[in-house]
Amino acid sequence: MTKLRFGIISTGNIARQFATGVRQSTRCVLAAVASRSQESADAFAKQYEAARSYGSYDALLADAAVDAVYIGLPNSMHHEWTIKALRAGKHVLCEKPLASNLAEAQEMFEVARSAGRVLVEALMYRCHPQTLKVLEVIRSGTIGEVRLIRSSFCYRTRRIDDNIRFRADMAGGALMDIGCYCIDFAQLVTGKAPGKISAVARIHESGVDEMAAGSMEFAGGVLSTFTCGMTAAANNTAHICGTEGYIEIPVPWKPPAGGGQFTIAHGTPPRMDGGAAAKVPGPQTIHVPADRDIYSYEADDFAAVVQDGARPRMPQESSLSNMRILDELRKQVGVSC
Ligand SMILES: NC(=O)c1ccc[n+]([C@@H]2O[C@H](COP(=O)([O-])OP(=O)(O)OC[C@H]3O[C@@H](n4cnc5c(N)ncnc54)[C@H](OP(=O)(O)O)[C@@H]3O)[C@@H](O)[C@H]2O)c1
Repeated sequence: MTKLRFGIISTGNIARQFATGVRQSTRCVLAAVASRSQESADAFAKQYEAARSYGSYDALLADAAVDAVYIGLPNSMHHEWTIKALRAGKHVLCEKPLASNLAEAQEMFEVARSAGRVLVEALMYRCHPQTLKVLEVIRSGTIGEVRLIRSSFCYRTRRIDDNIRFRADMAGGALMDIGCYCIDFAQLVTGKAPGKISAVARIHESGVDEMAAGSMEFAGGVLSTFTCGMTAAANNTAHICGTEGYIEIPVPWKPPAGGGQFTIAHGTPPRMDGGAAAKVPGPQTIHVPADRDIYSYEADDFAAVVQDGARPRMPQESSLSNMRILDELRKQVGVSC
């Protein structure tokens, strides 16, 4: 099979992780990398064995031996470089969140459609076997009807000054950086976009939301709550609670390369159900093997979309729904978008 030739734009943090993934992928090859600095591009190409390195993003887009571009730039630059790449005839896998706001995201998909090229938002957790297995268990009815989805994505960073996540002019903030996972997860599980949504946030002196807590209500009465933040350490376990039991996922967003695991539990029977005397099955831990890095699954899934016409694991309507929610929640907490 012909391998999909990826060009990576950026030599930053996630570009390095994605390059590692491409090297482990079965369907893709790292053809080129571009940076604002030729020196950085050269060092990156050497480390990750990219065939060519460029000191400008435009130079990579002019490379005819690049089929697809991976955009690992600050959020505020996704729109510009995705559109340039699509117009240069490249397929695009763009980092999350797809854009600075919904209007930009809509334009990006419109350009992809008119250029006849694929555009997918890189929400990598959707591609991991652990996520696929969790969805399979939910759909099997093991936990009954889903009623509640709780998730969290928090970390504590002390790096503020040169951190794109603390830059309001770069569409930073916790909702955009990691809240997008929680917002997406609830929609992935329910298969729907929420109706009522709300959030509160702690605003950092830089003007971005540093911590946020949100809630969403879905048709059929499924409720979801989530927390996200960049200035607090937290337990990021996700729970999906149903009428017959619940699923607990200790590492929902980035399961280790060796595989993930989650637990199906049925809780403690309340007194009105007979208390401790009632029979409730004990918890069951499901191990989900994975033989490679999460970004490698993402790269191969993207290749399947481009080369086989497969449906993206992160479809356009999900990206647009996420952006719509991110716009509304940021408006509610007083952050501009
Ligand atoms: N899916 C995931 O697991 C995941 C994880 C982390 C981040 N992300 C997403 O990936 C994107 C990049 O995040 P990151 O953590 O890789 O950020 P980062 O380490 O700061 O890298 C961003 C890169 O963008 C380029 N850049 C161009 N203009 C810039 C400017 N004015 N200021 C700063 N950088 C500029 C730089 O690359 P050159 O100098 O080489 O041009 C820089 O290294 C964001 O959209 C983020 O949400 C996704």
